[in-house]
This record gives sequence, C-alpha cells and structure tokens, in this order.
Amino acid sequence: MMIKNDLFLRALKGETVDRPPVWMMRQAGRYLPEFMELKKKYDFFTRCQQPELASEITVQPIRRYGMDAAILFSDILVIPQAMNIEVEMKPDFGPYLPNPIRNLNDVNNVIIPDVNDALGYVMEGIKATKEKLNNEVPLIGFAGSPWTILCYCVQGQGSKNFDKAKEFCFTNPVAAHILLQKITDTTIAYLKAKVIAGVNAVQIFDSWGGMLSPVDYQEFSWQYINQIIEALKEDAPVIAFGKGCWFALDEMSKSNASALGVDWTITAKNARYLTGGNITLQGNFDPTRLFSPPAEIKKMVTQMINEFGKDKYIVNLGHGILPNVPLDNAKAFIDAVKEYNA
Ligand code: CP3
Repeated sequence: MMIKNDLFLRALKGETVDRPPVWMMRQAGRYLPEFMELKKKYDFFTRCQQPELASEITVQPIRRYGMDAAILFSDILVIPQAMNIEVEMKPDFGPYLPNPIRNLNDVNNVIIPDVNDALGYVMEGIKATKEKLNNEVPLIGFAGSPWTILCYCVQGQGSKNFDKAKEFCFTNPVAAHILLQKITDTTIAYLKAKVIAGVNAVQIFDSWGGMLSPVDYQEFSWQYINQIIEALKEDAPVIAFGKGCWFALDEMSKSNASALGVDWTITAKNARYLTGGNITLQGNFDPTRLFSPPAEIKKMVTQMINEFGKDKYIVNLGHGILPNVPLDNAKAFIDAVKEYNA
C-alpha cells in the first residue's frame, strides 16, 4: 500500500529529501490533554489492550501536529507480561514487577509465548490504527532491547543504575544469557508479527544500554539487538536507539540497521564521525529543551538539522517527551522541521 507522506521511509532508505522527517519518542503521551482524558478513564494496560483505545491514542498526536510517522501506543513491558512475568503499572511510580527474576530457576519458568496468541491485541491495535491513519503516514512498531527488558525483569522496577540487574548478569551470566536469548526469540517473533499486521518500520529501544560498560554492552546488549536486526532486515527497516550508547556507534553502524537513534549527549559531528557518515541517524534534541520558549526551540531545531544535514536524518528527541511540556512548545519543535529550507 502506498503511503502518502513517505518522507520517513525515504530517510530510512537514505534517499535525498527536501527536509528531514520528524516524530517524537513517546509522542502519544501525557503532555496531550486528549491523552489525559483517556488516562482518567482507563488504566494503563487497558489502554494498551483495547485496539480502539490504543489506535485512538496513537493517532492523537498526528491529528494535532501532523508528525511524519505514528508510533503504536503500547509499552515495551508487554513482552515480559506475555512471557508469564507479572507486570503492573503503578500510578505515579511506573512499572512494578512483584516477582522479579533472580536465579536460574526463575529463568527456567519464563516461557516463550505464541505471540499471536498472547499479544494478539497488539496486532489488532495495529490494524485499527492503519485504518485510522488511512495511509497518510507510516506506522512504527517497537520493542525494548533484550537487555532493557532484562533490567525491569530482574530489578523489578525502574532504577537509577539497575544495580540488581547488572549484579545478576555478572554473578550468574549463564542464567542471564538464557533469559536474554528467550527475550530475543520472543521479540523477533513479535516484531515479525507486527510487520505482518501492518507496521512500516520497527524501533528497538535500548533505554538502559548506557548503564553498561563498552565491553559489557557488547556481551549483554548489542549481540542480542544485532540478532533482532538480522532477523528483521528483510521484513522492515529497523531503527536501533541506544540511550547513552555513543561508545557503541562504530559497531552499530556496521550492522544492517536502517538507522541509529542517538541521545543529546553527543554532537551531530561526532555521531556522523563515529558512524562513518553513511547510515541514517535519528535524534537528538534534549527533551527538557522543549521547556525553552517556542522561538528558541525553533532556532535550536534549525541548527540541529544544519549540523546533522537534511539527508540521512530523522528529527527526533534524544529520549521520550516529558509530561507538562506546553502544547505550543511541542508544536514549535514539529513546525520548525516542516518549515526547514535547505
Ligand atoms: O512513543 C510512543 O508514543 C508510544 C508509546 C510508548 C510508551 N512506552 C507508552 C507509555 C513507548 C514507545 C514506550 C516505550 C517504553 N516503555 C520504554 C522505552 C522508551 C523510553 O522511554 O526509554 C520504557 C523504558 C518503558 C517502560 C515504562 N513504561 C516506564 C518506565 C513507564 C513509567 C514511567 C513514565 O514515563 O510514566 C511506562 C509507562 C508508560 N508507557 C506511559 C506511557 C504513555 C505513562 C503511563 C501512563 O500513560 O499511564
């Protein structure tokens, strides 16, 4: 099916464009009043599980701002849930896993589910979203990296340093690798099913890759992300986003990923240098900078595009948009890209 606005897909292919495409990580979220309305009525996983709600939330930011891509409303933690690990989303606290994984026995109890069965609601959400989008813009599907999923499974909740997750890997590497491989196998099947259901590209969120040293990153994170990229490369373009993972960009750029996401702690120049200048890059506006006045946001976005270059580039934040960002500031970010003149 032809997508009317295919800027995002063209940037993923590295084609020459008049301006780069733009979307925002976590664009379907708490800065939008229409999102907050639904959040009041339905708990988090209900919003994820009901195709009508998930698709509605997915298209909300597109209707308001006209980003160049939509990202399916869901969460990375639906994967451990499907693997028989209990996950709660506690209001004002975040993810909470009452029975964290701490030993080989726990790992052995983790199942590799039939994704169409356990996560069929996601596929239904994709189909409902595709209908609402009416081929106006592409739809992105996503998953967490195996390492980032392990972080929550073992730590049991968010953390500043994921010390328990790292301790588990370093004291029980055999169990850790069995768990990482189970998550990887599930994620590959899941992302393939998402592509069949209709997503046009997939992004892997390695939100906590930067918690690992460069050597440990290769062992506990990158090798599994790379397995996913290799398995998906014929199905859809893959974007690998590693927060705080600039040290791995050289290695990542040698993969079959179509694009690499970078956060705001690296300059455009260094990101281009480390990736050899050929692969599409995505990022990297500091999400907190969206609290600057709109005029300043616009100036900074234009400068960011000039630094990355308009081609082989997807404008995004360096991490998810924060709650309480004023609506006009989010608009300034999107508009600055749409008004960009090379
Ligand atoms: O980008 C989008 O708009 C699509 C939706 C999306 C959500 N989570 C919805 C969500 C995506 C892509 C995610 C990914 C996700 N979830 C990541 C990776 C990206 C990142 O930000 O690092 C991670 C680490 C999670 C785990 C997670 N889910 C946390 C830590 C939290 C709680 C903290 C918080 O931000 O509130 C969530 C809950 C969550 N996922 C919310 C949303 C909109 C907020 C809670 C709610 O709506 O009730």
